[in-house]
Amino acid sequence: MPRGRNALHDALLKSDCERVKELIATGDDLLHCQPDLKGCNPLMLLARDQRFHEEYIWALLARRASVEASAAARSRTRLTAAEYASDFGARSARVVEALRACEEQERRRTVEWRCPECGDVVRARPRLLGYLQRAERGEEKNPLLLRFFAKECNRALLNPWYHMVNNDPSVRKEISESMAMLDALTGALPAFGSDWHIVDLCCGMAVTASIVALEHPGLAVTAVDRREKRYTTHFGRAGVRYVQWDILGVDFLHRLESLVSEVNRPVAILGMHLCGALSLRAIEAFAMLES
Ligand SMILES: C[S@@+](CC[C@H](N)C(=O)[O-])C[C@H]1O[C@@H](n2cnc3c(N)ncnc32)[C@H](O)[C@@H]1O
Repeated sequence: MPRGRNALHDALLKSDCERVKELIATGDDLLHCQPDLKGCNPLMLLARDQRFHEEYIWALLARRASVEASAAARSRTRLTAAEYASDFGARSARVVEALRACEEQERRRTVEWRCPECGDVVRARPRLLGYLQRAERGEEKNPLLLRFFAKECNRALLNPWYHMVNNDPSVRKEISESMAMLDALTGALPAFGSDWHIVDLCCGMAVTASIVALEHPGLAVTAVDRREKRYTTHFGRAGVRYVQWDILGVDFLHRLESLVSEVNRPVAILGMHLCGALSLRAIEAFAMLES
């Protein structure tokens, strides 16, 4: 069996209808609900793949006790089974509605463990809390992390709506790099303050944009990335505005110029880990704004 797959994922991906039928009828909860390496559980795989007749979806839904959690789960691409069924599987309205109803029911049942923004289940003790406690015990040696935790405002990142950051395996590295970036910003611009506009280009999870917004209330912060908003942290609560732009697109410089004049404040552009053409584009944007 390939790594990260159970027998049902395997049968689904091989379109082995007989085996899928058998495993839905005889399998246990784990088999029915487990996500594969891409975070897709069997309900999602069935919902999106038209080679499987809808009767398979109904059969899996009939195993209700085990599939409601699956209906409310999201894959790595942040889609639910109902979204796969409507957006990719072109499934009937009846199936999509049934999946949505299961999703809603499960979300209501487990609301206290979920992010109030996107409904994802969040950990009561995110990784960032472990790092904070380590710092409080005097075991953290990284000065950037120590400075981050020393500022009360930054502890907002422990809130459940920042789960995409606070439980990310690389949160420690992301925060260290962002703190170093902000040191460079304040070092280069002694006049920098809360009346400025920060534009974080290719923001990724927007850790840098979020920290700068938390540390400087009143600052205008725009995070730019080409990814859809659903992949980004819910940093609206920190006052960060997100724009989905391709910075290599022909209209990027024009859009940036309009945004900057609309906000009408002194502006600083940040761009961390921009490879190749992205860095060149950031330099072009800088030159344009400077002129
Ligand atoms: C290596 S990450 C850097 C993320 C963040 N700045 C950091 O240091 O953690 C690269 C980011 O650039 C974004 N990106 C890549 N090409 C882009 C483009 N043409 N326009 C806008 N964003 C782009 C990706 O979606 C990704 O989020």
